[in-house]
Amino acid sequence: MTNRRKLVVGNWKMNGLLGSGTALAKALADEANAAKPLAFDMAICPPATLLAPIAEILDGSPIGLGAQDCHTQNHGAYTGEIGAGMLKDAGCRYVILGHSERRAMRCEGNALVAEKVAAAQTAGLTAILCVGETQRQRADGETCSVITLQLTESLPKNLAPDLLVVAYEPIWAIGTGVVPSLDDIREVHRLIRETLGVYGDAVRILYGGSVTPGNAATLLADSEIDGALVGGASLNADGFWAIGKKCGYTTST
Ligand code: PGA
Repeated sequence: MTNRRKLVVGNWKMNGLLGSGTALAKALADEANAAKPLAFDMAICPPATLLAPIAEILDGSPIGLGAQDCHTQNHGAYTGEIGAGMLKDAGCRYVILGHSERRAMRCEGNALVAEKVAAAQTAGLTAILCVGETQRQRADGETCSVITLQLTESLPKNLAPDLLVVAYEPIWAIGTGVVPSLDDIREVHRLIRETLGVYGDAVRILYGGSVTPGNAATLLADSEIDGALVGGASLNADGFWAIGKKCGYTTST
């Protein structure tokens, strides 16, 4: 098995104003700077309005910056959209793509997500590609087929595997406090790795859905789980940092 460094990503979703968002980023940067070098990677994905000020706060810290979506095109007449090159220019290293909330609420399909992954990678961003099944699909025994299809159709033909992270996020686990069993997560992560083929061993596969400081140790200790995509619990600096530390970072605290 290759040595995949754990990665913990905070997805702030549509939360954070200038004051609260920069304060949260500053608190995390202070923790990370005091603890560096870190034994794991950490990134935060604030709303687009906060990218530039937070890029300044994170400058020189081990915490990476990410966005929550990008357009397929880099620039042009696309009112309200943001291109991957703009995100890179604002200081981003990562972009979350194909999150289930965008798939459901913005009707984003696999083909569109694949175009976005290609655009992100062309701009030099690491795409954090989200896949996950609904509760109904799991109950109907369709999890494996759904994940395989989502993954294969959401990857562009000219994939850059070194700029790819996959996040397995069962939709029924997001924001619900319900987490699948470790065996169920492991099964899907192995399936994702197999589906990725020759790249499978190198690509980091995160778990997302109701990750908290309380359950992170068990999840992150697993060799099949290369990190976490964290929503609600990433909005609190102490809690998010506590999750990161479960990756194996150790100090006296
Ligand atoms: P949650 O969200 O941690 O609040 O469940 C995860 C996500 O949607 O990425």
